[in-house]
Amino acid sequence: MYKSISTQAVHAGENKVKPYHALTMPIVQTSTYAFEDTAALIEHMQRKEDKLPLERDEYGRYGNPTQRAVERKLAALDGGEDGLLYASGMCAITSTILALLSAGDHIVFTDDCYRRTREFCLTYLKRYGIEATMVPMGDYAALEAAIKDNTRMIFSETPTNPYMRILDLEQVVAVARRHGVKVFLDSTFATPCNLRPLEFGVDLVTHSVTKYLGGHNDLLGGVVIGPAGTIARLKEAQGVLGGVPDAHNAYLLLRGLKTLAVRVAKQNENGLRVAQYLESHPKIRCVYYPGLPSHPDHALAAQQMAGYGGVVSFEPEADLEKTSAFIDAMRIPYIGPSLGGVESIIEQPALMSHFTLDKKERLAIGIKDELVRYALGIEDADDLIADLEQALAKI
Ligand SMILES: Cc1ncc(COP(=O)(O)O)c(C=O)c1O
Repeated sequence: MYKSISTQAVHAGENKVKPYHALTMPIVQTSTYAFEDTAALIEHMQRKEDKLPLERDEYGRYGNPTQRAVERKLAALDGGEDGLLYASGMCAITSTILALLSAGDHIVFTDDCYRRTREFCLTYLKRYGIEATMVPMGDYAALEAAIKDNTRMIFSETPTNPYMRILDLEQVVAVARRHGVKVFLDSTFATPCNLRPLEFGVDLVTHSVTKYLGGHNDLLGGVVIGPAGTIARLKEAQGVLGGVPDAHNAYLLLRGLKTLAVRVAKQNENGLRVAQYLESHPKIRCVYYPGLPSHPDHALAAQQMAGYGGVVSFEPEADLEKTSAFIDAMRIPYIGPSLGGVESIIEQPALMSHFTLDKKERLAIGIKDELVRYALGIEDADDLIADLEQALAKI
């Protein structure tokens, strides 16, 4: 209905007249819904059995009006028919794969995706008789070669963490179409402001809404967006698997989404400014940011995306300890996992997400001791750069 993402972020999915004439969407904080009488109950159950659109909810695991408002808004932002909200980003990914694949099916996924997704595909799916093949990110010939008669899904991510690799959506969709396989894409790092994967022919998009979409480091959630028929199947499965969001979280997400476009515009600006500054600094060996011409996927990112996002990874000329000293000297960012919120967050993956691996194992997957991931918030770019300047001067 609305063309621009900023207007959609504020208005899409919400009725103008809301209960009690409230301007904001109420938090419908209930686990169950009551019926006026038995006739009303039977009418509802009959509609459900006849697969007619439901006019009310029955039980919290099957739906909630606050949740539905957010789902409609998220679907509009990604240009999809419908969306389904989950308790976390991982819940959205695992529940969707479990709902759509069966024993004997095969999934192909790219190696540079979120480590818990990789773990799920490689270790958990096997236990349910679903085969998984991991292929190198960016190798489209290997992707196509991995497809077999029983392949049902290609799963990938763009941009990836922590090296910000960009997936060529046209190529992946072309491979998938040639073989009648569905593409399921994690677009968390891009957000609908920077990339709308469904417009490229991707079948299903997921986001960890914990990151940019919630945007305030105060909630966990995940969403899947795609054709109404597929979302209906996923909703059926969610009623069984149970990974539902709660109404209060849905409201926080709805509220966070209102400012999505302005937040992401600022984070795109901060990402580019910080990446350019770091690349010009003599104590920085390497910067990974798709907005820099030095990034291997810069041309693709420029063609496919409207902005490059707020995450910059880099390696200072330092060892593990010296890099930690630099991080400790930073005044603005918090040290922690996650990204996409208004507060900047910095981390050294060797000591955070990859702490349990020994150095050899870490290096085998490309995680150097001195690698830093800086997830920029919406602070002022000059302040962020001045902070980096003073911290780098200390090492
Ligand atoms: C790209 C990506 N996908 C999925 C997830 C999982 O999301 P959640 O933490 O909301 O379960 C993360 C979390 O860091 C992520 O970075």
